[in-house]
Amino acid sequence: MTERQIKVRYQEFASIDELNAEDRELAQAAIEGMRGSYAPYSHFNVGAAVRMSNGQIVRGSNQENAAFPSGLCAERTAMFAAGAKYPDKDMCSIALAGGIYGRITDDPATPCGACRQVMAQYQSKAGKPMGVIMVGGKKVWKFERVDDILPLIFDSI
Ligand code: THU
Repeated sequence: MTERQIKVRYQEFASIDELNAEDRELAQAAIEGMRGSYAPYSHFNVGAAVRMSNGQIVRGSNQENAAFPSGLCAERTAMFAAGAKYPDKDMCSIALAGGIYGRITDDPATPCGACRQVMAQYQSKAGKPMGVIMVGGKKVWKFERVDDILPLIFDSI
């Protein structure tokens, strides 16, 4: 038996002001994206923004529905919109922010497992690392690649 370890690296910033200009712009777009959220059930408003290889930013927000499984998270809303709008471009990075009644959480909101799997697939499609930026009011986390938030990615078919 060999015991192995998986290490995850990420950067923590005190605010989006510490990010580089590109990431700050994306984080800001995610925060602004919260305004598009439709969350009459959870009241947890989430915004996401994807940066494409052509420099464009595509925003998304969570959209809830009375038939609960029919709703969708902000990250997947943004990624699917980005994939549909720019099918020939790569997704370079994604940022997200969220909070109850639109008040951003102090600690960063973190993506659900299904969204991480979708990020993994677009990263794989791009063939290069996709950065993930999680924005909170008092902390910001940056992961260089989806592997760091979804170790042992399912990528076998
Ligand atoms: N939500 C997201 O939009 N992104 C996540 O990564 C986690 C959760 C949404 C789904 C639902 O509308 C609300 O937040 C509460 O779970």
